[in-house]
Amino acid sequence: MNRIPLILDGDPGHDDAIAWVLAAADERFDIRAITTVAGNQTLDKVTYNARRIAALLGLDVPIARGREIPMVGDLIIAPGYHGVSGLDGPSLPEPAGEESELSAVSLMAKVLEESEDKVVIVATGPQTNVGSLLVAHPELKDRIELISTMGGGLRNGNWTSPAEFNILVDPESAYIEYHSGVPLQMCGLDVTEKAMIYPEEWEQIRDMDNKVAKTVAAWLDFFFIHLKELGWDGATLHDPCSILSLSHPEIFTFRDYYVDVEIKGEYSRGATIADYRNVLGREPNCRAVMDVDREKFVELLVEACRSFGGNHE
Ligand code: RIB
Ligand code: CA
Repeated sequence: MNRIPLILDGDPGHDDAIAWVLAAADERFDIRAITTVAGNQTLDKVTYNARRIAALLGLDVPIARGREIPMVGDLIIAPGYHGVSGLDGPSLPEPAGEESELSAVSLMAKVLEESEDKVVIVATGPQTNVGSLLVAHPELKDRIELISTMGGGLRNGNWTSPAEFNILVDPESAYIEYHSGVPLQMCGLDVTEKAMIYPEEWEQIRDMDNKVAKTVAAWLDFFFIHLKELGWDGATLHDPCSILSLSHPEIFTFRDYYVDVEIKGEYSRGATIADYRNVLGREPNCRAVMDVDREKFVELLVEACRSFGGNHE
């Protein structure tokens, strides 16, 4: 079986962490590198979290830190959702190996250059590293099979009315990405706010006799605290959509659109806007993920957690 080479780029972050659990659980994915970007918390914190997640999952892959700040403007962080550490809740193992001496962009470029097959980049934080890679290494664009990204929302935002957090933190990097010509799969809020798991559903994960499953349940407990205060009755699993829409496209609905990123608007900066009626006459630049079979989504998460029983202790 030809495994799919993956680079995981994110700002863990509870839902990034759960996305990486899903990636590690699927034999079809060959995780070549992890790169971190400031977003949910500062670069130091998300990088420490990434290294601890890798230790928990037994992932022996290079981990490199990316940019501390967005391409333009100031960093926004989200301690209300992810806590002071960026991954509050359960205790985690200490990092197993050393952090890479390369920067995230250099590590991404190295993986792209050295891979026999084209590489899928799963970007679940602000798109700063991806934007920087595309600017620094345009010659490597054709080594990228697809960028599966969590970010944006064609109908609404979640940080400002029009803008979703990952895109709002660094609209310029997202703009570069959406204008790069690289194949893009966009998991925006249109699908991720439907990819919900309810507290009674993750009890079965907690009851599993393995450390990864119990850690995922505890991450969901913490992540749900603030969501519940906001009136949600379940945990919206944004970043996991970027993995499951690759491995199980059959449970999702897709639409090809031309999408652009607002970088100028005083109130609309960071909005992702689809040309639904093709008024601009431009070819679609992304495959937008629009809907998901929620029950099957939850089943896949439960099965992935169960797969860590015994052989990942
Ligand atoms: O808006 C949701 C996104 O912002 C997710 O990637 C979450 O981890 C945060 O980074
Ligand atoms: Ca994230």
